[in-house]
Amino acid sequence: MADCSHSATSKIIVGGSPATMQMKRLIETVAPSIGPVLVTGPTGAGKELVAQALHDDSARSGRLVAVNCAAIPGELMESELFGYEKGAFTGADKRRFGRFEQSHNGTLFLDEIGDMPLSLQTKLLRVLENHTIQRVGGNEDIPLNLRLVCATHKDLLAMVEAGSFRADLYYRLNVFPIAVPPLSERREDIPALLEKLVEKRRAQDAEAAPPVFTETALTALLAYDWPGNVRELRNLVERAFALFSGRDVTGAHIRENLLSLKLPNELLQIEQDALWDASSALLGNSELEIEDLLVPMPPRPEDYKPWFVHHDSIDLRGHLRDIEVVLIEAALTMTDGMVSHAAERLNIGRTTLIEKMKKLVIDKPQNI
Ligand SMILES: Nc1ncnc2c1ncn2[C@@H]1O[C@H](COP(=O)(O)OP(=O)(O)OP(=O)(O)O)[C@@H](O)[C@H]1O
Ligand SMILES: [Mg+2]
Repeated sequence: MADCSHSATSKIIVGGSPATMQMKRLIETVAPSIGPVLVTGPTGAGKELVAQALHDDSARSGRLVAVNCAAIPGELMESELFGYEKGAFTGADKRRFGRFEQSHNGTLFLDEIGDMPLSLQTKLLRVLENHTIQRVGGNEDIPLNLRLVCATHKDLLAMVEAGSFRADLYYRLNVFPIAVPPLSERREDIPALLEKLVEKRRAQDAEAAPPVFTETALTALLAYDWPGNVRELRNLVERAFALFSGRDVTGAHIRENLLSLKLPNELLQIEQDALWDASSALLGNSELEIEDLLVPMPPRPEDYKPWFVHHDSIDLRGHLRDIEVVLIEAALTMTDGMVSHAAERLNIGRTTLIEKMKKLVIDKPQNI
């Protein structure tokens, strides 16, 4: 039962705010039972950690097997989950156990369950009712003993109303709902999370001198809204190791250099070599070059996700059109109105650019 000090949950999930303590107690209480758990909460808030904690405190002898329903194409998901018999389809040259069987006696974590196609939702419902599966191409009923944990950042009830998620499955999965609160609703967790994330980052690279977060830095962190939740804080720590290794981080640094990727002035003045060292961790194995850091980076498509979860809707067509207009106009200006050169810069054909200019009513820059 709930004992906050010795459980795996208390070690895995950091934070002592009332909201987090309540969630930890709920996980510890629910972990030993067999009913399905539905973990909800915004992106980066820690849903996957909750699944891990539930498994580790369940005392189940099997494995925790995770499947990300958003990452597997719909047509492959059935054989991924149910496995298949030899000869079930072209290329099935031997029997393969699916994720259901792999998690026998353990926990199956279906992440992003809101992305599961309707046809598979029906099959999942049948598994929950019968506690058996059949491999693709097989007719043997294989009994299973597994604990199902599902997670989503989507509003499943709204999906049920819209007809894209089965109502009967929703109620079947939602036996134990666990809502992970956004970080902005448990700011007291920030200092402990920061400490843990710095410690984790240090463990990866004992040589790296950690940045020193001053009191004003902490105040700035507490004042921020964290649309990307704990993942965003983890990314900030990563940047701090790259840009402020062994140095003090102030509130201004947090706002001006770490919450947006702008190099601190001091760093711009030191030699190129040292700059390389300081930013090597940030660059990691990515393909960023140092010049990319000095020139503003284009917005990354994935940055839209944490932003969008805080908005009801967006005029997608209008927004994409505006981006097109701005980039086409910029390319025309940079090339003094030379359409073929502008098209090269945009990596599109000349005629495509001309068509777009007509459609979007873009003129060549004036006074050329
Ligand atoms: N309470 C916590 N204590 C320690 N680390 C945490 C905590 N919550 C989240 N993290 C860390 O933050 C990162 C994001 O967490 P996680 O992947 O569990 O989020 P998520 O809710 O599954 O996000 P998404 O919806 O985008 O999949 C991970 O690196 C995780 O280890
Ligand atoms: Mg996740």
